[in-house]
Amino acid sequence: MKKILLTGGCGFIGSNFIRYQLSEYPEVSITNLDKLTYAGNLENLKEFESHSGYTFVKGDITDQDLVNSLLKSNRFDAVINFAAESHVDRSILDSGPFIQTNIVGTQVLLDAARNHKIERFLQVSTDEVYGSLGAEGLFTEQTPLAPNSPYSASKAAADLLVRSYVKTFDLPAIITRCSNNYGPYQFPEKLIPLFISNALEDQPVPIYGEGKNVRDWIHVLDHCRGIDAALRKGEAGQVYNFGGNAEMQNIEITRLLLKLLGKPETLIQYVTDRPGHDLRYAIDCRKAEAELGWKPEMEFHAGLENTIKWYQENRDWVNRIRSGKYLQYYDQQYGNRLNN
Ligand code: NAD
Ligand code: DAU
Repeated sequence: MKKILLTGGCGFIGSNFIRYQLSEYPEVSITNLDKLTYAGNLENLKEFESHSGYTFVKGDITDQDLVNSLLKSNRFDAVINFAAESHVDRSILDSGPFIQTNIVGTQVLLDAARNHKIERFLQVSTDEVYGSLGAEGLFTEQTPLAPNSPYSASKAAADLLVRSYVKTFDLPAIITRCSNNYGPYQFPEKLIPLFISNALEDQPVPIYGEGKNVRDWIHVLDHCRGIDAALRKGEAGQVYNFGGNAEMQNIEITRLLLKLLGKPETLIQYVTDRPGHDLRYAIDCRKAEAELGWKPEMEFHAGLENTIKWYQENRDWVNRIRSGKYLQYYDQQYGNRLNN
């Protein structure tokens, strides 16, 4: 797995994965195909701009010609698909981009991988495809798919397409499904970075409903290590779940964040619940532990403290996102070069 086409690498998990791969494996080279939507931030990978093992291509995974020409002109060992519309609340406002990128984009990548006989296709998916749990139980790889939001429905559709290409065309594809990630470079619209960023500015932190919904939190580097293990040791046609063994109610994590930040609980503001809000996610990752030799290593409190520290030290990064300035970086960095 030396030459990788990775999509969506300017987002939260993709950029952490690229940093991890290029630091861990000097022989690896990565081409990062990213559309630079609002969630794609080139600044996340600034330190790799002149790295010989890193190439950035601005483009859309639904662009069949572009994807095919990339696969034709490079001999990639693997394709890893991180690119997605990833925020549940946005999918409730407008599901259109979710259908295009998450479903049509995956189909374009699958066809190209099939045509160019790619040896490994890895689809980065989510535990949300399993729907919602009650107070008991865990999602296993056998849990039936029962998505409840347009986001999770589009991810489940993509997973089913991947499955069908394995069965019908023998495509050597693997699906990974992970629980809620946290860590550096997460766009400040998701719970943890939003609440840290708001609290640092003494702004309210909006909890949906009663705050009793439960998520299983995993540090992004543990997820990256899991994807890496699946890429190198996973079996084609298999699904692997990753989770952090760190279940928490939203209100508990909010109180903890405020305590660690030294901010008062009066910042908590209860707001109208998210429609179709899944009650609880929790992952059984024994299969990945047994077959990939992987387990989550970051202890939740330590991971949260590191994350808070990162956001405190990178307030500029958040401010540039909140002001929209980060969107100008592409033109500054690449604008002149395109004319040459
Ligand atoms: P993100 O929203 O931070 O980043 C998504 C990236 O994809 C951005 O760089 C964006 O520009 C790019 N992109 C979007 N549409 C594109 C298109 N049509 N063509 C090319 N690039 C496009 O997302 P994330 O949180 O890093 O999630 C990455 C993947 O991991 C997604 O597939 C998501 O479903 C999955 N996942 C996320 C979590 C989580 O907690 N964040 C958990 C499990 C799985
Ligand atoms: O489980 C994996 C999924 O985790 C990924 O597939 C998604 O891409 C990722 O966005 C995340 O989905 P969630 O909807 O669980 O994450 P989010 O951070 O949006 O919300 C976490 C919980 O916090 C959820 O119960 C909703 C709640 N919430 C969220 C926000 C943004 C609030 O109470 N207030 C908020 O402002």
